Order: sequence, then C-alpha cells, then structure tokens
Amino acid sequence: MAMDMDIKAIWDERRKLVEEHLKQELHRDAPLNETLCASMDYSLMAGGKRLRPILVMAAADAVGGQGTDFITTGVALEMIHTYSLIHDDLPAMDNDDTRRGKPTNHKVYGAGMATLAGDALLTMAFEVMLRQEGVDAATKLAVVREMSIAAGANGMVGGQAIDLESEGKHIPMELLKKMHMGKTGALFRAALRSGAILAGADEKQLQALTDYAEAFGLAFQITDDILDVTGDEAVIGKPVGSDERNDKSTYVTLTSLGEARKLAADAVEQGEKALAGFGPEADFLRGLLDFLVKREK
Ligand code: IPE
Ligand code: IPE
Ligand code: MG
Ligand code: MG
Ligand code: MG
Repeated sequence: MAMDMDIKAIWDERRKLVEEHLKQELHRDAPLNETLCASMDYSLMAGGKRLRPILVMAAADAVGGQGTDFITTGVALEMIHTYSLIHDDLPAMDNDDTRRGKPTNHKVYGAGMATLAGDALLTMAFEVMLRQEGVDAATKLAVVREMSIAAGANGMVGGQAIDLESEGKHIPMELLKKMHMGKTGALFRAALRSGAILAGADEKQLQALTDYAEAFGLAFQITDDILDVTGDEAVIGKPVGSDERNDKSTYVTLTSLGEARKLAADAVEQGEKALAGFGPEADFLRGLLDFLVKREK
C-alpha cells in the first residue's frame, strides 16, 4: 500500500462490505420474534462508521494477511459495539434520544425490547465469530477469548460501570483514563488483536498493535468527549451536551477543551510510535490516526 493511499476510499469500500455482511449474518435464521429482529436490525443497520470491523481487517493487513478474509469476525465485533450503544442510550444509562442520526432504539421499541435487542446482538456476535472461515479452532478460540474479555467486566462493561459511578463527581485523572480504556479502548483493543491473531501475527507484532490500539482508543474517546461539546448534532447523529446533562466526568469536564485536544494529540503520537516497526502494510492504520484528530463525527 502506498503512503499516498486514499484512506477515505478504502474506508468506504470496506464499510460497504461490512454493511452487506452484517445484514446477511443478522438474517441468517428465521426469527423467533419479529419485533426483536426488527429492533436489532434497526440499530445495526442505522449506519455508523464501522470502525471496529475496519480495524480488524486493517490489523490483518498490517501483519501481511488479507484483511477482507476476516470480515466475519469484524461483523461480530460490530454487533457487540452496537449492543453497547443501545444499552448506553437507555433511560437508566445516558438517556439519549438520537443515535446514528435516528431516534434511539428504546424511543422506537421501548426500553424492554431495546434491552433485549442489545442482549441478543451480544450473544449473536459469539455465534457469528465461530463462523469465521479459514482459521483453525484454536485460533478462533483465542479470538473468542479476546472478545469476551474486552466486552465484559474488565473491559467495556467495567468502563461503563466507572462512568455510571463517576456521574456528579470529580474523579482523579488516573481513573478517568481507566474508564476510557475500558468503555471504549477495550473493543478497539479486541479489534486490532483479533485481526492480528487471525492473520498469524508474531508476539512482537501483536504487542505493537496492542499498543497502537490503546493509544487509538484513548484518543478516540477523548475526541468523543470533545465532540459532545463542540460537535454538530446533524453531523454526529447523536445529541450534543449529553455529558453535561448527565454530569459526567470527561476529559473536557476534568481538564479543558484545549488540554483535552492536547492529550488526544499525545495519544495519537503514541499510536504512530507503536507502528514504527511496520512497513507500508500499516499505512492505512497510520492514516487513521490523522482521521482521529480531524474527525467531526
Ligand atoms: C460511539 O462509537 C461510542 C464510543 C465508543 C465513543 P462510534 O463513534 O464508533 O459510533 P458509530 O459506530 O460510528 O455510530
Ligand atoms: C460510551 O461512551 C461508549 C460505549 C457505548 C461503551 P459515551 O456515552 O460517551 O458514548 P456516546 O457519546 O453516547 O456515543
Ligand atoms: Mg455513556
Ligand atoms: Mg452515551
Ligand atoms: Mg460521548
């Protein structure tokens, strides 16, 4: 891959591929309950940047594999991510009304059905992961392990728990960082590590991509905190000011907009460093770091 590669074009192409596969996997079997299935489809197919599946593929590319071979695993991770968004928006959590440019799942299907749609996406993800072709059972198990740790109490859900408890409090920076690494970083970590494992990365490559993922996840959530203040609702597709309304601890509330931007830039630099040992195969991952700083949604 050349250094002047068109990040946006590759992204768009892969995003379309992800959309197709998501639809296919979601509707593979006839539904036991039509409403539940419609509710799952509603959030899953509502758009979104599809960043996590794209990172699964990019990690495989970076270690010399063929990223698109692992789209099934990417799609499974997007299901976990979408579940986390549905639950994050619930009245008992962030109580938000829009997501991915549409009314939130519970606004359309009610909190009960939205909770179940999230539950079902999470469990379906593990079934889909096991459908990944072209790798042996031990490799698949290693990926399932990555994903279950990342999604659970010591990953995304744990970070969300810190987030809930931090409402209305001034928490220490160290805890804020842990919260971000959990609620957002963990799924990015799983994306990069899974792609690398599937493509047969060695220990050194796996560690480097893990370092990249941690920097990426941190920068990504700091930017999300910034966009919650400075974003354009029509562009980000979710409410602006949600963090303030819920009295959240964020990089912006605990520091300042300027300081948050600086910390995001520091994390991006860490990400760049982590890729130092890779060749042009990692150019897409390098290009994504630039997207991180400039993104408006
Ligand atoms: C939103 O994730 C939630 C966070 C972890 C900050 P994304 O910004 O990737 O959301 P979509 O998938 O594009 O909707
Ligand atoms: C939560 O962070 C990320 C997860 C869904 C795990 P936020 O609550 O800041 O995410 P947004 O801003 O609603 O997308
Ligand atoms: Mg939240
Ligand atoms: Mg939220
Ligand atoms: Mg946010």
